[in-house]
Amino acid sequence: MTRSRSVYFSRKSIHLVIAENDAEENGLKRALGWASLMAMGIGGIIGAGIFVLTGQAAADYAGPGVTISFLLSGLACTFVALCYAELAALIPAAGSTYTYTYVTLGEIFAWIIGWNLVLEYAAGAATVAVGWAGYFNRVMQGLGIHLPEALTSAYFANAHSIGGTHGVFNVPAAAIILLLTALLMRGTSESSFFNNIIVVIKVMVVLVVIFVGAAHVDAANWTPLIPENTDHFGHFGWSGVVRGASVVFFAYIGFDGVSTAAQEAHTPQRDVPIGILGSLVICTILYVAVAAVATGVVSYKELGVPDPMALVMDRTGVAWLSWVVKLGAIAGLTTAILLLLFGQTRIFYAMAQDGLLPKVFAAVHPVWRTPAVSQALVGVFVALAAGLFPINILDEMVSIGTLAAFALVCGAVLHLRRSQPDMHRPFRAPGIPAMPLLGIASCLALMVALPLETWLRLIVWTAIGMAIYFFYGVKHAKRA
Ligand code: ALA
Repeated sequence: MTRSRSVYFSRKSIHLVIAENDAEENGLKRALGWASLMAMGIGGIIGAGIFVLTGQAAADYAGPGVTISFLLSGLACTFVALCYAELAALIPAAGSTYTYTYVTLGEIFAWIIGWNLVLEYAAGAATVAVGWAGYFNRVMQGLGIHLPEALTSAYFANAHSIGGTHGVFNVPAAAIILLLTALLMRGTSESSFFNNIIVVIKVMVVLVVIFVGAAHVDAANWTPLIPENTDHFGHFGWSGVVRGASVVFFAYIGFDGVSTAAQEAHTPQRDVPIGILGSLVICTILYVAVAAVATGVVSYKELGVPDPMALVMDRTGVAWLSWVVKLGAIAGLTTAILLLLFGQTRIFYAMAQDGLLPKVFAAVHPVWRTPAVSQALVGVFVALAAGLFPINILDEMVSIGTLAAFALVCGAVLHLRRSQPDMHRPFRAPGIPAMPLLGIASCLALMVALPLETWLRLIVWTAIGMAIYFFYGVKHAKRA
């Protein structure tokens, strides 16, 4: 490579990005208040994490200590959320994380972030789809329809996969991805009403689990709170609690999505921080309560099933509530998948407009006014991932990739405070520099707690990304 080093670190002008994203100029309405942003955040956050992974983290890693795992993960996310709030209020751009990095750390970091966001969004959609399929299969079984195991389990399932059986292809998981992809290709502009209803259903289901479950807790299930370590790092004991935190970290992903709507907020400097932090705090409270109740009603050893929340309801003896939870989870997970698939193509769109990805990812369908080709390509890849991989492998990839991206966002705040100390910041995160440093340290700690295989997969993923960047992105990037 004979290119000068500066190319890799070239930055977009922060002032230009702020001007380009001025809502009035773009014709976007500033219609969202803090309450809508918070509802949006909660809608994006609650999903397979709480409905499925809580059970897995308790059964395999943390025992009843999964409650502490949720607290630890929530704390790490709080540091990150404060950094997001500062950047989102300052640079209200739809590209969010990717844009923040482009204007602060430079092109190569923006690429790395964009590439890791594929893990957050595309692999995230696959993860939730596998969770969706778990609840779907249970509903089918309840109706007396038994789908063959080979067609409902992943090919790459391993010892830690729920059920542990390896099949051929998880057909329901792939099918829901393809179905929602078709819907998104046609456009979903009228769906926000529908979305809000589902958010309400999702929160109600979580509250039902907490309040109905609380009356059936057997405190004996909570002792020992942290089962003894099995001599393997990450399997119970404190290392298990921390690994549990990195597994359930997935449950918190989504608060960052609020930042993409910053352009459309009434008063971004007030509404965006409240939206991001408020949704995170509410979800943390709900999650800690669900984790405590679930491990109190059912022994953690039994929770490693595809539909742990339905199991908890079964144990309360109110059979119809188990159905409510299953159907509510299916509805709630459907919108979570929709948001993630939608988000992925919008990130690709921003990257393609900057020349870092081929133009096809920025092509808009003339009639449907959606990035239909990009949506279809994403849909096929995500459907393959959802069909072939079990939830534990997918989830850990999402966690490691997103944690790396979050650490860079904290880094971007620090960098900007140094390089542009006098810029007017509508929201100033407290405790600089200690707070973002704690954010970086806690993201790294959660990453370190993940299994070695997950690290190896991340290294392969990063190598593929770097190859695309050096062979394509560097040559095609549109620099100022
Ligand atoms: N936080 C989202 C979920 O748990 C991604 O499904």
